[in-house]
Amino acid sequence: MGDILRKARLSTQPADVLAFTSSIDVDEWIFESDLTVDHAHLVMLTEEGIITGEVCSLILSALDTIQDGGIAALPSEEDVHAAIESKLIGMVGEDVGGRMHTGRSRNDEVATCLRLRLRDELLRMIAELTGLRKVLITHAKMHTETLMPGFTHTQHAQPTTLAHHLLAHAGALARDSDRLADAYVRTNLSPLGAAAFAGTGFQVNRARTCELLGFDGVIENSMDAVSARDFMIESASAFANLMTDLSRIATELILWSSSEFDFITIDDRYASTSSIMPQKKNPDVAELIRGKTGSAIAALVGILTITKALPQSYNRDLQEVTPHLWSAAACTLASVRMAAGMIDTMTVHKENLAQQATAGFAMATELADTLVRRCGISFRTAHQIVGTLARMDAAPSLKTIDEIGLSMAGRRLSDSGLDEQAISDALDPVLEIRSRVSGGPAPDDVARVITIFEKELQKDLIALDVRCKRVNDAMKMLDHEVEVHRRKR
Ligand code: ARG
Repeated sequence: MGDILRKARLSTQPADVLAFTSSIDVDEWIFESDLTVDHAHLVMLTEEGIITGEVCSLILSALDTIQDGGIAALPSEEDVHAAIESKLIGMVGEDVGGRMHTGRSRNDEVATCLRLRLRDELLRMIAELTGLRKVLITHAKMHTETLMPGFTHTQHAQPTTLAHHLLAHAGALARDSDRLADAYVRTNLSPLGAAAFAGTGFQVNRARTCELLGFDGVIENSMDAVSARDFMIESASAFANLMTDLSRIATELILWSSSEFDFITIDDRYASTSSIMPQKKNPDVAELIRGKTGSAIAALVGILTITKALPQSYNRDLQEVTPHLWSAAACTLASVRMAAGMIDTMTVHKENLAQQATAGFAMATELADTLVRRCGISFRTAHQIVGTLARMDAAPSLKTIDEIGLSMAGRRLSDSGLDEQAISDALDPVLEIRSRVSGGPAPDDVARVITIFEKELQKDLIALDVRCKRVNDAMKMLDHEVEVHRRKR
């Protein structure tokens, strides 16, 4: 068995060379897609009178058996396409099985398979991501009043709420979802009919295979159709971008669950312990999300680097691109799921968060703003007065502020409307939060943003449903056509 491609033109290949050139291990990802492509191509060839109904029917039945056997039952060939054809010819003979590849090349075949599988991955990823976005929004709803410290430079900056913080991630993930949906648009196109790169003289019906496979259009230029991998770059980039956003969430969960922060407890199922230190509870799942982000970025760089200097049209280098795409897709999908689970099950230490909210003189900005509003001084002057307070590490009393004001601005701020009540209000984080309405943590403003995010999520779910339905309908139509042709013998 084997060597259907080489036996006339070339001598057989030693096992080590075959192992070097073969993509069969990674082709597991496109085994089902390849059979789907075969189905559509066979139906079209029959409809166009290029092969007979009898040949089509015999091949379709053999393909059923091949499908049942799975990729492991295929003979050793350099890839899944040759292996399926080889197995087919072994089953039904060359005069029948040897007709399946009429008007087709492995070049348009593999490009079609990759696009079919990737579109499913993209749809699955978007679905999974809506789950994570929902978790973030749900928890945001529960924590609109949960005070916590906000950070810049990993230093206490201003108080915020956990809702406001979680929604920052939800906003980023909504854009990731948009990027995946965009990548889908340029992925779900049909290269089939392009053959090796120059099209084919057989009267293949590209529009028909496009329709049967549920693609949204054909790639017009046959050379572009077989050689383009920009759709993979785009998806890998969307994966890397999404992973980078997950990695930032992961880093926070790692920091927040440390005894130094003590903001949350990660659920046991997402933690590991040490083989030597019996007390340890380590945030391994979060760390692995962060680590796998490096792998997803490496996949993108790998794809870019492999494709950047390739002349038209198909080059075998392209085979080397594919494993990067699948490994990035797999780790991204799993990471989205893990992040959702971790956030959904974490325990929030509300009291400590509230206590920490005002640590490190985090109310300083609000105090400076109060001086501006009450006393009519410039913000820069107020900034300097409060900055001096911070430097002195002094309690912000009216007396001290007056002293500083006198030396810095030549006036007592109590003369222009500052009083103890205004200072104590400025130091109250609950009042401060309520005033932050410009996309900030004010509970009303957060509620407004939640409504917007929920609408976006709903819209994305509907768009996802439409796409899934289109694909499912096409697959049903193809199955139906296959059934009709199978019975035609
Ligand atoms: N395994 C190949 C790949 O992944 C399929 C296409 C092979 N085409 C060829 N001309 N050798 O790209």
